[in-house]
Amino acid sequence: TWTHLSIVEQATQAVRAQVGEGRVLCALSGGVDSAVAAALVHKAVGEQLTCVFVDTGLMRAGEGEQVEATFRRQFHVDLVHVKAADRFLGALAGVVDPEAKRKIVGETFVRVFEEVARDLGDVRYLVQGTLYPDVIESGSAHAASIKSHHNVGGLPEDMAFELVEPLRWLFKDEVRAVGEELGLPEELVWRQPFPGPGLAVRIVGEVTPERVAVLRAADAVVLEEVRRAGLERQLWQSFAVLPAVRTVGVMGDERTYAYPIVIRAVTSEDAMTADWARLPYELVDRIARRLVNEVPGVNRVALDVTSKPPGTIEWE
Ligand code: XMP
Repeated sequence: TWTHLSIVEQATQAVRAQVGEGRVLCALSGGVDSAVAAALVHKAVGEQLTCVFVDTGLMRAGEGEQVEATFRRQFHVDLVHVKAADRFLGALAGVVDPEAKRKIVGETFVRVFEEVARDLGDVRYLVQGTLYPDVIESGSAHAASIKSHHNVGGLPEDMAFELVEPLRWLFKDEVRAVGEELGLPEELVWRQPFPGPGLAVRIVGEVTPERVAVLRAADAVVLEEVRRAGLERQLWQSFAVLPAVRTVGVMGDERTYAYPIVIRAVTSEDAMTADWARLPYELVDRIARRLVNEVPGVNRVALDVTSKPPGTIEWE
């Protein structure tokens, strides 16, 4: 439509005017905002853009693959895919405090990103997927103070990039419309929000490679069934959480002693408040059966029925 065409046109022109012949860097997170920002900037300045995807080892199932398929193979973007799982999991070893985990993931991310940027050399501009609501909210102390949200802040002084923020005037629904118009896959454009620290804040207690594998497999089952039920877009988020306990169960003739998985699904307008989603019991049942049957290490499933407040959406 006229509006979206005009948004894309205006944004690409503004990016061209800002960066001229300069080289531009963009961190892809796997999320909607960075993906749409990258696609817009790529439309504007093509080969001047390099995208960096840091695989923290804390992403959802298939995220790295999707970024490869979309940006390298579909759009032919110059993409640096950093496989840094060992580094992130190494830094997280033995850490159980939620804020410490966030800090470690954020700092490790900045260090990895900094190394890539240094290797690339003469980059002057950095793309940020800042939306209009972020711009308004950053004036208020509220959002940031509850949990330290992770972004690419924290880069050293001599890495002072000039920011390119092509989504600065847009709301989320406009960002999605722009993403669709640019030809990004529907699955990406309609992806639910995912926290910067990734699965680390959905694993209560220590983040080990084994526990990440359990949660990632469980999370994929939850999302797959939610999608199949046609509910993905109606829910703000729907995911699995791994608590720091094991419980007794029985499978076949065997006693088991394994992890429970908690299903967390919420509806929300802006994540400031949220209601627990009244998922159909048939869906809850399908998810629960599949989790116990298909995910090794899981023998019990629970449903989180806490709204926000008093609960937060994430468990940490
Ligand atoms: P909470 O758990 O505070 O989450 O109710 C509100 C929304 O923010 C997301 N979230 C984050 N997003 N970096 C992000 O980019 C973070 O550190 C972070 N922590 C929480 C969360 O998924 C929910 O949508």
